[in-house]
Amino acid sequence: MRILVTGGAGYIGSHTCVELLHAGHELVVVDDLSNSKRESLRRVQQLAGKTLEFHELSLLDRDALTGVLSAADFDAVIHFAAFKAVGESVAKPLEYYQNNVTGTINLMDAMRSCGCKNLVYSSSCTVYGEPQQRPVTEDHPVAQAESPYGWTKLMTEQIMRDVYVSDPSWNFALLRYFNPVGAHPSGDIGEDPNGIPNNLMPFITQVALGKHEKLNVFGGDYDTPDGTCIRDYIHVVDLALAHVKAVEKVGKEEGIFTYNLGTGTGSSVLQVIAAFREATGIDLPYEIVDRRAGDVIVAYADPSRAERELGWKATRNLLDMCRDGWNWQHKNPEGMVEAV
Ligand code: NAD
Ligand code: WQD
Repeated sequence: MRILVTGGAGYIGSHTCVELLHAGHELVVVDDLSNSKRESLRRVQQLAGKTLEFHELSLLDRDALTGVLSAADFDAVIHFAAFKAVGESVAKPLEYYQNNVTGTINLMDAMRSCGCKNLVYSSSCTVYGEPQQRPVTEDHPVAQAESPYGWTKLMTEQIMRDVYVSDPSWNFALLRYFNPVGAHPSGDIGEDPNGIPNNLMPFITQVALGKHEKLNVFGGDYDTPDGTCIRDYIHVVDLALAHVKAVEKVGKEEGIFTYNLGTGTGSSVLQVIAAFREATGIDLPYEIVDRRAGDVIVAYADPSRAERELGWKATRNLLDMCRDGWNWQHKNPEGMVEAV
């Protein structure tokens, strides 16, 4: 298939590009490099032993986007491009709504004008809020979002549903990721956060590197077996492989499909620390501190629909995620540095 990938230089996008190239697809990536580097796409091509086409542009530049989409016949689009920092979205709601919602509308408008109506979308388990039943199935009601970022995911999902009702010749796969972590096993691409990481795994690998004195564990008195919050961590390569299946599905089957992408297993923060020790031999210094505002207590997926309908199942465990995440960080202590 010929596929347009928005945000393909980013964390999940770059891993997905490697797997799409391996699967024999032809790729055009658009990314404004607001949260990534061109270097990641150089490494993607090196890892895959194949080339892709790249355009540095923002989805907010509608004319440029339409130009890229109309230059070739695309079979589908995979849409990763968005701002994703929950805390920052509270401080900068207009920027988040503009980038994530307007960017998505621009993309779909350009797709419609070029006759490409097959879209795979990066949604998030954040749409469920604090789950009322666990494991979480796709039929679980969506909740009031806790942040402007969360609202942008709910709104863009709703826009896609409304567009589908108005014109069922569109095909959508809405992929609700649980907690993507880890890196490509080569250690050449991985998560490259700006500044101090907000998320658990990149913070852990930076503590292991000695960049921070210790990990603050947010809350040790939750109603969970060890008192810390529980998440469904999923290896980014498993997540990438799900996109290959999803894009192939929207390319040949009609409908709007929603899939949870997780392992189905919940792990507490203390279990992640123990797994990191087992996988890397590194004993992380940590301290239990106050709860973080807005944290969900327990969330893990029922991923069985994706297995049934996409033939996809996560196969990498928490030890793989810790080992590969650490390998990437250790090999790239300053993150994705451009080759000279
Ligand atoms: P990322 O920031 O690494 O990648 C996003 C990419 O999009 C970056 O390369 C950035 O430069 C680009 N981008 C942002 N705005 C753009 C614009 N207007 N035009 C062109 N390019 C733009 O993030 P990620 O972790 O790879 O996330 C990818 C997608 O998955 C996002 O939509 C995110 O909301 C979603 N998601 C991520 C997680 C997670 O924990 N990482 C969980 C659930 C959902
Ligand atoms: C995981 C656990 C923290 C950092 C975020 C977004 C969500 C979605 C996935 C995009 C929690 C604990 C963390 C630290 C800690 N992204 N923690 N010390 O909160 O599940 O979700 O990423 O859609 O929208 O909110 O992920 O990695 O931040 O936290 O104790 O320094 O680790 O309290 O229990 P989270 P996370």
